[in-house]
Amino acid sequence: MSNRRPICALPDLLVSQIAAGEVIERPASVLKELVENAVDAGAQSVEIRLEAGGIRRIAVIDDGSGIEKNELALALTRHATSKISSLEELESVHSMGFRGEALASIAAVSQLTLISRTKDADHAWCLEPGTLEASAASGALGTTVEVKYLFDRVPARRKFLRAEATEFGHCIDAIERIALAFPEVGFRVFHNDRAVRQWLPTSALKRISDVLGAEFNEHGIEVNAQGGLIALMGVVTRPTAARARADRQFLFVNGRHVRDRTVSHAIRSAYADVLHGDRQPAFVLFLQVDPTAVDVNVHPAKHEVRFRDSGAVHRFVQQTVTQALAGVAGTQHVSATGADTSYGAAQMTDSAFVPTAFATSGSSSAPWQATTQRAFQLRETAQTNSTSPQAWQTLYQPLDEPTPAWPLGRALAQVHGIYILAQTNSGLALIDMHAAHERVVYEQLKKALDARTLPQQSLLVPIVFRVTEKELALAQEFQPHIESLGFEMAAVGPQALALRAVPAMLARGDLEALARGVLRDLEQIGASQLLTEQRNTLLATMACHGAVRANRQLTLEEMNALLRQMEQTERADQCNHGRPTWIHWNISDLDKLFLRGQ
Ligand SMILES: Nc1ncnc2c1ncn2[C@@H]1O[C@H](COP(=O)(O)OP(=O)(O)O)[C@@H](O)[C@H]1O
Ligand SMILES: [Mg+2]
Repeated sequence: MSNRRPICALPDLLVSQIAAGEVIERPASVLKELVENAVDAGAQSVEIRLEAGGIRRIAVIDDGSGIEKNELALALTRHATSKISSLEELESVHSMGFRGEALASIAAVSQLTLISRTKDADHAWCLEPGTLEASAASGALGTTVEVKYLFDRVPARRKFLRAEATEFGHCIDAIERIALAFPEVGFRVFHNDRAVRQWLPTSALKRISDVLGAEFNEHGIEVNAQGGLIALMGVVTRPTAARARADRQFLFVNGRHVRDRTVSHAIRSAYADVLHGDRQPAFVLFLQVDPTAVDVNVHPAKHEVRFRDSGAVHRFVQQTVTQALAGVAGTQHVSATGADTSYGAAQMTDSAFVPTAFATSGSSSAPWQATTQRAFQLRETAQTNSTSPQAWQTLYQPLDEPTPAWPLGRALAQVHGIYILAQTNSGLALIDMHAAHERVVYEQLKKALDARTLPQQSLLVPIVFRVTEKELALAQEFQPHIESLGFEMAAVGPQALALRAVPAMLARGDLEALARGVLRDLEQIGASQLLTEQRNTLLATMACHGAVRANRQLTLEEMNALLRQMEQTERADQCNHGRPTWIHWNISDLDKLFLRGQ
């Protein structure tokens, strides 16, 4: 640069205006800061008045502790706060605010009036916009902050504001989030002098349904779990209440609404087994962690936090939510309405498909298991024999004995090497062979790994395969993890790995592809998260490799064994990718197709 300008310190107002860029994006961000201040001040009721979507005017009136006359000007000074005074206090902060930046930033980009009265004062004091000298005013105990003409002085920012209705919508979102977090505080909201929201002080659960409505009442499952220094409470919704958009997901960490990848991922993976990949669950969850175990000062607007032990948080959240959902799956599937099976298995409303059917045939479960094992040991043979005339004969054996009360029925045939066609008590089922087996293997892997009883099978002849240096390094770095998954892999050269043992359950698939898949997952997952966050992703990869492939000819015996295994597998309705694994048509459905009896 030719025209070098001298370095100078920026004027204070400009510093605040720049800082405002980080925290104050739109009226809703102003509102968030003001309402949080009211809550920090111990307010029991907060009134919010908006004009023109908050662009023209935002006023927040609280009945909290108020501000002393001689501190009013300080409240508007950058980095002045009553909430912390040392680093130690920051590390265990309980208030929403602590940076002492919000009011100064807002005042720098608007016209801010501050009126406040403490319990010892005879009357309120007021700071008019642009003054630092308080004048006597009338007003009740508490504080009123009025913010007018946001960004009028910062046209660059003003331009980015949307239509009033949109800004109003953002304001309501911001208020809802705080209202959810502070159910003991009452809120009233006015827009252009019309009352638009009112929530009375109440319990956390009642506040959730007050704010978010019926959906959480009807489809909600209460979550309430405590574990050492961590607790999770709130409401998750059944998978059927899932939405196309992630607009009903509220996570609060120590009362603060945040977006957090660890927790989101934990919740996602808890739903992964029961929810189609592109559907979004709805939930309101409050995570309480010891303040010293979480850093809230990682984002100027505090939208993010950082956990000291994110692995532990992830485990706790995932387990808690999984249990909540599993509890419901058990009870809900019993309902004959089929109301909660709209994801994939909606057609299965017949009573033959409810778990009671599993229970009544429980006595015969031992023979199923025997069949199952035998059949899958036979798999290799079946494959090689697939085209023999004998195999075809078995496939098309006529079926004259009555179908037993197996929910998934008796296998009739394999269709296009992909589907199993089965006759059930009440109709016809079509089963995606690979998806179904994948689900079975996946659940078996999960169980075995949880019980630390993943049986290993040594390979008679090790499989040696070429890898990149990176893959080799991964195999060495993750050796203990790889072993805990049932593998034994060792370097046999600068670019070669020998696979000496694999999980017995998966010993028949394409082992090289399996090993590569595991390495690839490990690379993406990273050591710290393995066996916690992403364990199920990895198991899904393994299950996918271990499951029967399409175009593999199965015998009827194998098909039936698979059906029996599915019936015994939790959540066999969906494959690991959330797709349905089977569909069912009642005879009446079929009759309709053919216009019979009409
Ligand atoms: N509604 C309020 N009631 C009482 N005191 C308030 C209120 N709003 C702000 N204050 C005081 O002004 C200070 C500065 O507020 P702010 O700029 O939001 O920073 P922070 O909340 O991070 O401390 C607060 O620490 C608090 O002492
Ligand atoms: Mg504040």
